[in-house]
Amino acid sequence: MTLIKRKTGNDLRVDLKHLTISYNDNGPEDAGVIIFIHGFPLNKSMWNKQAEVFKETCRVIAYDIRGHGHSDEGEEDFSIEFFVNDLIAFMDALEIDKATLCGLSMGGYIALNAVENYPERFDALILCDTQCTEDSIEAKEKRLATIESIKKDGVEKYADASLKKLFAPISFAGKKAEVAAVREMIINTSEKTLSNTLLALAGRKESCSKLSEIKIPVLIIVGKEDQITPPEVSRTMNNEIHNAELYILEHAGHLSNMESPFEFNKQVKIFITVNKLV
Ligand code: MLT
Repeated sequence: MTLIKRKTGNDLRVDLKHLTISYNDNGPEDAGVIIFIHGFPLNKSMWNKQAEVFKETCRVIAYDIRGHGHSDEGEEDFSIEFFVNDLIAFMDALEIDKATLCGLSMGGYIALNAVENYPERFDALILCDTQCTEDSIEAKEKRLATIESIKKDGVEKYADASLKKLFAPISFAGKKAEVAAVREMIINTSEKTLSNTLLALAGRKESCSKLSEIKIPVLIIVGKEDQITPPEVSRTMNNEIHNAELYILEHAGHLSNMESPFEFNKQVKIFITVNKLV
């Protein structure tokens, strides 16, 4: 097999079978690989504060899930399984055999499903502000109502309503740049991707019953004020996974890596060092 020459930098593009994925790839060639997977409806730039730090010692990759950021949307309906297939095809295209996955919220759903179905491709897992349950009937109905309200009232109104749930109250004063950046990410996501992804989230399967089968080290991080996936949910996952540890971040909501980057990075650094992942 001929090895492809690795490209480094930001906003790189790689062609998978039916679509092009946009990604950032920085850090030493022969270091351990961490792949960061963003939440909904954000993009790879939500991990910039992690990439800045970890590229010194790790190969740090953050990519845009199909339809988000600068990745193509493709023609098909979305599903978490589909996103996992994209992730594996993306790793294959970059010739990455094994990586540590770090996913936030929807990124965590993808990471959990990927580890469940392709355990040999991952050496550790970092689950941030996420959950293993499927949507309740009420949650599914809410997603359908959200699709309708985006159609009726537009993306800007949706973005403003979402921000209130994504950030802890304190972040609206102390993290203005991050709040503005997240608003931009949301309003730059197409209506088609928003509704396609909302349907994918509503249709996702639970992964709680598979947590005890996870064999690799797992770090779970959650913002103490996360309103979407509150700390209790992380505590439950921590109890189910054999080799897991949980860290609850003060002064952070659902976007804990952006709201409390210093503490977030410190916990990830300890985890990757103790588990010799770099
Ligand atoms: C996310 O941040 O990815 C979403 O809140 C996930 C969800 O709505 O289930």
